Amino acid sequence: MPHRPLPDVRDRADLDLLLRRFYGAAFADPRIGPFFTEIAGTDLAVHLPRITDFWERALFRSAEYRRNAFAPHAALHSVRPLTAADAGRWVQLWRAAVDGLHSGPNAERAKAVGERIALTLHKRLAGADAPLTGTGPGFVPLAALELRSAA
Ligand code: HEM
Repeated sequence: MPHRPLPDVRDRADLDLLLRRFYGAAFADPRIGPFFTEIAGTDLAVHLPRITDFWERALFRSAEYRRNAFAPHAALHSVRPLTAADAGRWVQLWRAAVDGLHSGPNAERAKAVGERIALTLHKRLAGADAPLTGTGPGFVPLAALELRSAA
């Protein structure tokens, strides 16, 4: 059956919808959801405009984002360690969210940036020598991302 190709990520409105879908899935996820719902007590009405600024800056350089993105993850990690499996799940949901709505160079960049940050964030939190393995169905091993990032 012929189907229309999906549009690329074009602007803030696209990011807004993409991020709403992503966080809907992330909050509901049994592995990473509790970091938002139980540990941070994230208010999406507050988080969404900030994270949209973050991605608008990362992809289009058309917004300001001057907050410290590392600090909240370090705070989470000190309450409950963010494991390689958690970072892998984040990547799995991010890729799926992007692929469900978009295709094109910006969509590829969004996935690549998310993967790169997930990997570096994890290494910064857990230590450069921490194992990048994990378990569970559909798990994206961070070791696979490391192989890809070396290409
Ligand atoms: C291990 C997977 C991850 C988990 C469980 C996680 C969870 C969280 C939580 C709970 C917060 C605090 C939200 C609040 O203020 O209530 C947060 C903030 C943030 N996250 Fe993550 N995160 C993960 C990975 C990532 C990755 C890979 C990125 C970037 C691509 C990212 C980008 C951000 C940014 C930019 C903020 C700060 C937003 C602000 O300015 O307040 N996170 N994250």
